[in-house]
Formats: sequence, C-alpha cells, structure tokens
Amino acid sequence: MVSSNIKNICCIGAGYVGGPTMSIIALKCPNITVNVVDINSNRIKAWNSENLADLPVFEPGLDDVIRKCRGRNLYFSTSVEDSIAMADIIFISVNTPTKETGLGAGFASDLKWIESSARTIAKFAKGHTIVVEKSTLPVKTAETIKKILYSLQDFEEEKNNNNLQKTFSIVSNPEFLSEGTAINDLLNPDRVLIGGEDNDSIDKVSSIYNNWIASNKIITTNLWSSELSKLVANAFLAQRISSINAISSLCESTGANIQEVAMAIGSDSRIGNKFLNSGPGFGGSCFKKDILNLVYLCRYYGLNEVADYWEAVVKINSWQQKRISSIIVKNLFGTLANKKLAILGFSFKADTNDTRESPSINISQDLLQEGAQLAFYDPRVKKEQILKELNSEKYGENIQICKTAIDAATGADAVIILTDWKEFLELNWSFIYKSMRKPSWIFDARICLDNSYLKDLGFNVWTLGS
Ligand code: NAD
Ligand code: UDX
Repeated sequence: MVSSNIKNICCIGAGYVGGPTMSIIALKCPNITVNVVDINSNRIKAWNSENLADLPVFEPGLDDVIRKCRGRNLYFSTSVEDSIAMADIIFISVNTPTKETGLGAGFASDLKWIESSARTIAKFAKGHTIVVEKSTLPVKTAETIKKILYSLQDFEEEKNNNNLQKTFSIVSNPEFLSEGTAINDLLNPDRVLIGGEDNDSIDKVSSIYNNWIASNKIITTNLWSSELSKLVANAFLAQRISSINAISSLCESTGANIQEVAMAIGSDSRIGNKFLNSGPGFGGSCFKKDILNLVYLCRYYGLNEVADYWEAVVKINSWQQKRISSIIVKNLFGTLANKKLAILGFSFKADTNDTRESPSINISQDLLQEGAQLAFYDPRVKKEQILKELNSEKYGENIQICKTAIDAATGADAVIILTDWKEFLELNWSFIYKSMRKPSWIFDARICLDNSYLKDLGFNVWTLGS
C-alpha cells in the first residue's frame, strides 16, 4: 500500500459519481476514513439501506463494495460541516446541470451547488485542506472556488480579529467513469487526470490512486488543462455518436448497413472500433450538458465558429430522436390513435437506473403527442421515475407502466426497443408475436435483436441504419 499522510477524506455529493468513486477509494485505501455527505437526507438514507437492492444508484458490483466497506472506513451521512472539519482532502462531487434561467440559460453550467459547497468548506475547514474538483466544471472554475474560499476567510478573520490559519489548495481531478460500468472503470481506468498548481497537493491526490493504479496511468497537468480536458473528452465521445448516427440515416436511404460501415471504418486503428454503436442518440446527464457548456465557453471567448461546430453534435442528437419517432408514426399508417405501443427500456443505457436525458423520454413524448397509448417496461427504473420524466399528468390513461416486457407487449401494435438491456435479447419473441395485434411491428432503435429471425416469426421489423 502506498503511504501518505492522508487519513480522512470528505466527499460532498453522494450521487452517481460521489457514491461509487468514494466506495472504491474506501475499498482500496482501508487506512483512510471516507465520509460521503449530502444535503439530500433521503439519498443518504438509501445509501445506508440494510437491503442493498435499495441503494440509490444501481451499478453492477457496487453492492459488494458497499457490503465490504460501509461502516469500516466508508460512511454516508448528512453531517456536512463536521466531515469538512475533519478532512485532509475534500472532493466536491455535486451536480452541475445546465442553467435553466438567467445569463447563459440553456448552455452554461449552473454552479450554485459548487458555490454553496465552497462557502461551506470556507467556513468549516480546519488547517490546510486540499479541495478537489471532482464535478465536471467550466474551465477556470478553480479560480472562482479559490476566491470564495479565501474571501470568506478574510471576512471571518476581520470579524474575529484572530488568525484562523486556514489554507487551501485547489486540484482538478475530473471523473471519467461511465454509468453501468462504473466499478470496472474506477478499478481499471484508462487514466486518472490530476491538474493543480502545487506539486505537494498533486502528489497527495496521486498517492490515493497509487494504491491501485500504476503511476504511468496518472496524468498530471495544470489546472485549466485538466478542467478543459474533461469537457473535451465528453465532446469527442458524443461527436462520434452523432457522426455514426448521421450516417445511419444515409444507410437507410442507400441500402448500406450501419453496423457493416461501423465495422469497416472501426478496423482502421486510427479510428478505432469503440463508441461506434448507432442508436437513438446519446442520453445521460453528461454529454449534452458538457457540450453545451463548451459551446457557451467558446461563445464567451468570441469563438463562434468553434461553438457552432460543437453545437451541431447536440443538434444531430435531437434530430436522430425526432427521426425515429416519425419513422414509427409513418410505418403505423400515419396515426397512433387507439394504438398500443410497448416501450422497452427507459434508462439512458443498459445496466443503470439513471434516466437523465434518456432518449426514451423525447421519443415517448413525441409518440404520446400523436395519441399513442404507451406501455413501458424497464428492468431497473421505478414507475414513479418514468411518470415524473414524462410529465405524466398531461397524458393520463395513455401511460401504463408494466412489470414485465410481455405485459407491455401484449395486445400492442408495436414494440420499440430503446435501451439495450440484455434481457430483451432473451425474450420469447414467438410468444410475444402471438400476443400482439396484427400487423405486429418491432422498431429496434438499438440494433440489438436478430431481425431475420423476427421477420421469420412474422414481425414487420425496422432496424436502425439498414
Ligand atoms: P448527482 O445529481 O447524482 O449527485 C450530486 C449530489 O450532490 C446530489 O445528491 C445533491 O443532493 C448533492 N449536493 C448538491 N449540493 C450539495 C451541497 N452543497 N452539499 C452537499 N451535497 C450537495 O450528480 P452526479 O451524476 O453524481 O454528477 C456529479 C458531477 O460529476 C457532475 O458535475 C457531473 O457532470 C460529473 N460527472 C458525472 C458522471 C456520471 O456518470 N453521472 C460522470 C463523470 C462526471
Ligand atoms: C459518459 C462518458 O463515457 C464518461 O467517460 C463520462 O465520465 C460521463 O459521460 P455515460 O454517460 O455514463 O458516460 O455513458 P456512455 O457509455 O458514455 O453512454 C452515453 C450515451 O451514449 C448512452 O445513451 C449510450 O447509449 C450512448 N452510446 C454510447 C451510443 O449511442 N453509442 C455508443 O457507441 C456508445
């Protein structure tokens, strides 16, 4: 084990990043006490659930890590102030969504949770504290955090007329995990990125990761490169998805097949074969908001052409979703009135219960506006979550949430695959076909089913990109 004098870590924000990341740090650093704190007491209660099926985040393998570490050196609580006071290092892992109103609305990140975290740290930290930006942030946010940390201290010092001897270092350590594979990503990352201003803080943060990650995978940069690299990594990944999705439509028009094209181009090692799965567009809490943030930054610095270039990645993503809903309507004789459609999959990707920006939301809303009756099934997303995401009051009886895929499909005119959960591949499609109204359609927006087998059963099949 790598030795360091770090004994106590606090993480502000017990979400999809804070929870799994700190669990792995606790697992790999048994000598460090890790306190994960949140202002949302329901979330903390769920992290402390006896029944590990009730954890607020579903991630394969996370329950095992929690079982090993919780109560040993990993604690979830709402004791924000006390945990800050005890910490040598504080990770800020709070949400940074797109601003909804005011200056920069629709593009800039809303930093109110970052600011309130910094203010609380300024007030309750003791001695020297390393403050780590784990949240994804606009470049230069470290400057703002520093100003908040020190301005509050000056004020308190003046007020109390005594030397509080608080000092801070700011380090950027963005997180690259993907949901659904978070545990493996955290255990075996391609790289860990640490940006900072002083070597001592960079070394201390590195020493945590060195407990399980080889030094050559720990990249160090200046603060601004680290902050910007996170936004750019997400922009490049999302760009690949918009690129392949744009080509999926051309495949449909020409008789080419998107999977064959992806395979052919991906075998060029300069392009690479990952992240070339065409689908209903990227979802998740990160890609859209981080690109919009990048677009905002570019416009702020007067780089309008660069901003337009990246904004197009988001526009193609929305277009892909609209395109899929109109293909469904057209194939079902131009009207969805009095038709039941089964929506299989509501999470933004398989192996997560997260629905933020899920393509299922926009596509379902388009179909509901056409008058469809939608029957949803997702193996991990709770009924209340689906209803909340859809603004269900508007659609009343036209939304039904089912306990099985078979229930959703029974009597339906079409089944629409929007998330590639493994269990959808193993369904008894022959049974489903018999239970549906004729003609029976399958719209496979994830290209995950065997379309020639389904056609043989009698289905009309539309597969994206072919
Ligand atoms: P999340 O919404 O799941 O969790 C954030 C948590 O922070 C919430 O539980 C909220 O109650 C808490 N919080 C907010 N303000 C607080 C405060 N002042 N004190 C205590 N708790 C507070 O968000 P997330 O998905 O975990 O994302 C967190 C950050 O990490 C974001 O910046 C995101 O862009 C970035 N990120 C997310 C992912 C991902 O896959 N979700 C991956 C990489 C990076
Ligand atoms: C992403 C980044 O991958 C991760 O590095 C970052 O830390 C957070 O944002 P995440 O959003 O959790 O992770 O999942 P990811 O696997 O990137 O998928 C994002 C979306 O793109 C999903 O809706 C997924 O279905 C879609 N996707 C992904 C495709 O449509 N095709 C692909 O080839 C890959």
